[in-house]
Amino acid sequence: MRAEPGAYPAAGDGTGNEGSGVIASTVVHTSDSSPAGPLIEIHNLVKRFGPFTAVDRVSFSVARGEVLGFLGPNGAGKSTTMKMATGFLTPSEGDIRVCGFDVQSRRLSAQRAIGYLPEGAPAYPEMTPRGFLRFIARIRRLSGQDADQAITSAINATELEQVLDQPIDTLSKGYRRRVGLAQAILHNPPVLIMDEPTDGLDPNQKYQVRELIGAMARHKAIVISTHILEEVDAICTRALIIDRGRIVADGTPGELLARSRYHNAVSITLDTSLAEQAALLLRAVHGVAAVEEIRRGPETIFTLFTTVQGEADTTLVDHVSRLVRERGWQVRALYREPGRLDEVFRRLTRGDRSGQQTKPGAAA
Ligand SMILES: Nc1ncnc2c1ncn2[C@@H]1O[C@H](COP(=O)(O)OP(=O)(O)OP(=O)(O)O)[C@@H](O)[C@H]1O
Ligand SMILES: [Mg+2]
Repeated sequence: MRAEPGAYPAAGDGTGNEGSGVIASTVVHTSDSSPAGPLIEIHNLVKRFGPFTAVDRVSFSVARGEVLGFLGPNGAGKSTTMKMATGFLTPSEGDIRVCGFDVQSRRLSAQRAIGYLPEGAPAYPEMTPRGFLRFIARIRRLSGQDADQAITSAINATELEQVLDQPIDTLSKGYRRRVGLAQAILHNPPVLIMDEPTDGLDPNQKYQVRELIGAMARHKAIVISTHILEEVDAICTRALIIDRGRIVADGTPGELLARSRYHNAVSITLDTSLAEQAALLLRAVHGVAAVEEIRRGPETIFTLFTTVQGEADTTLVDHVSRLVRERGWQVRALYREPGRLDEVFRRLTRGDRSGQQTKPGAAA
């Protein structure tokens, strides 16, 4: 793997001069020293690559205690937004403030407050995790006991003990990702920006990293990107869906689920022998807008869509329960659906693309 220049802060001359490429002359010792109000504030952010607009007037803010999830199809602009937020890419337009520091004019001050896991977690392939973390600690101006403690706790949090002395180049994808995570959290920054932190991890590690993010969330403002929609519910307090550079949805997991056509739908699983009779009766239930039927051998799943949109509503499930009792049906499952994020995601990100700006050289 190639180290990506600029993906990690460069070691400098220690002057702390904002313009010199030096990352930290003092270490941000977290958390509670940061200003009140949002720790990340982004206003009308735009990034153009030639005539192509990759990020188009994106605005959001993240407060301490929030875990904001970026969702969006490949090429939506998630990584580009993160690169700008962390000061590794200059915006075409817009303002970014991290812990009150303007990321363009006070880049190094802002970067001291940020832990960043870049896409693909580039690292120096010939280094071992131990050597790499020591190197990052030096860049972050940690030394002596502080450095030892920071390295030990990052190693513990990411469970790297087994591979500490093996060249990064020879590590499996998941372990490389964990090395990237360890460097991001090493200086205990108040702001964490992580581009697909669980990408490539096995299910146990995914779970562990989600727990880690949850545990850190109380004291930090965290932004993650992910393609795993269940992560939104598992760890995010809020999510943005980004499509072709624009925010197309912004809300809590519950608010996004409420936009699903499956929100408050009632799912009932019956013996297939009952299916024909049940289909007629279920369609006639008061408040049913439509019925979807899936036959799986001996059992049939009916999904009843409600005419009531919006907030939690149990009327339909009550009506269906009554019908079940009246008919004496043996029910294999009966529940009210919270909504399906994958359906919301698909609907919002697969809109009509006619008239869309096209990227030069992109296949039509
Ligand atoms: N340096 C660059 N020059 C030209 N185009 C670029 C550059 N960097 C990114 N892009 C384009 O900007 C768009 C957004 O890319 P970005 O990497 O931000 O997407 P993403 O949402 O992170 O996607 P993924 O889910 O695949 O990681 C893409 O069309 C990409 O090709
Ligand atoms: Mg990306």
